[in-house]
Amino acid sequence: MARSAGAVGSPERNRLGAMAICVTGGAGYIGAHVVRLLERAGHQVRVIDDLSYGDAARVGQAELVQLDLADTAELPRLQAALDGCRAVVHIAGRKQVGESVERPAWYYQQNVGGMANLLLAMRAQGVDRLVFSSSAAVYGEPKTGQVREDIDLRPINPYGESKLVGEWLVRDAARAWGLRGVNLRYFNVAGAGWEDLGDPAVLNLIPMVLQRLYDRRRPAVFGDDYPTPDGTCVRDYIHVVDIATAHMIAMDYLERDSRPFDAFNIGTGAGTSVRQVIEMVGEVSGLDTAPVVEPRRAGDPPVLIGAVDRIEQTFEWKAQHDLRSIVDSSWRAWQAGPKRIV
Ligand code: WQD
Repeated sequence: MARSAGAVGSPERNRLGAMAICVTGGAGYIGAHVVRLLERAGHQVRVIDDLSYGDAARVGQAELVQLDLADTAELPRLQAALDGCRAVVHIAGRKQVGESVERPAWYYQQNVGGMANLLLAMRAQGVDRLVFSSSAAVYGEPKTGQVREDIDLRPINPYGESKLVGEWLVRDAARAWGLRGVNLRYFNVAGAGWEDLGDPAVLNLIPMVLQRLYDRRRPAVFGDDYPTPDGTCVRDYIHVVDIATAHMIAMDYLERDSRPFDAFNIGTGAGTSVRQVIEMVGEVSGLDTAPVVEPRRAGDPPVLIGAVDRIEQTFEWKAQHDLRSIVDSSWRAWQAGPKRIV
């Protein structure tokens, strides 16, 4: 059951004798992994989540403040929820590209408005460390397959634009009042660290393949005539536990580095094609995953891979999980859920 802002300020607050870490979106797929790792590292964690997609059962022992960041009327509660927090990991946001094209103003209101409210509350409460979930969507359709952080950022949809504006807000707050911020640009996040924390949404390749298998249909390949080795799109798939670990290290970096603001790709630096992913699903599940080819999906760049030397050198962080581990953990989490494939 959701615990309300009433929990904030209770004597329980500092039970670990340290200041809390606040995770917005901590009841969602990626956020819940960050929360679990933080708790296992001994941090006190406070989750802010509107539970529109998140699930209160995923936050473990963390305090949960149910609140819509984009609702300006909630600013006083948001500020109160940051009392006693040392840093914020900001993951809450809308993330469906197609929906963002249909409802651009709402995406800006949610993602940009949510970030603006969060920064207002952080400044008022004196919380000056922020790790922000950005996205490879800020790159749009880059000319080079492997993208470095310093290329021109040209997002091609309102979702990517809203993430880019979020990055600008972090930069501007750093200049204006000394916020210490890190923008983490996720590539294609997949997998599960625990069977109860699988991705519940069917919006990305691996869950979509599993959904088709559940429906006793063949997986779909959206276009096989791209200029890539096997004709299907190539992406940088990264395990959600590697993503969560990067957040822990980013927080540590904020404690020790003097740069006020920076952005880092979180990927593996390696590319995998749609066909290779679907074949791996066949290997780990033992199912026949021979796909059908369907038309290209609008707006898919042929290749998108993160250059990762910057994060590897600065954070001494490197992704640990390979494609098999990503697909195998996705499969196990799926099979532990309500749509078991038999
Ligand atoms: C991967 C590839 C599809 C389903 C999106 C967002 C991005 C980020 C991550 C974040 C593409 C192909 C898919 C299927 C297929 N969002 N595909 N058959 O598009 O790289 O990135 O999610 O928060 O901003 O744009 O990820 O998983 O949707 O697709 O062939 O059934 O798989 O065409 O080439 P994408 P994806």
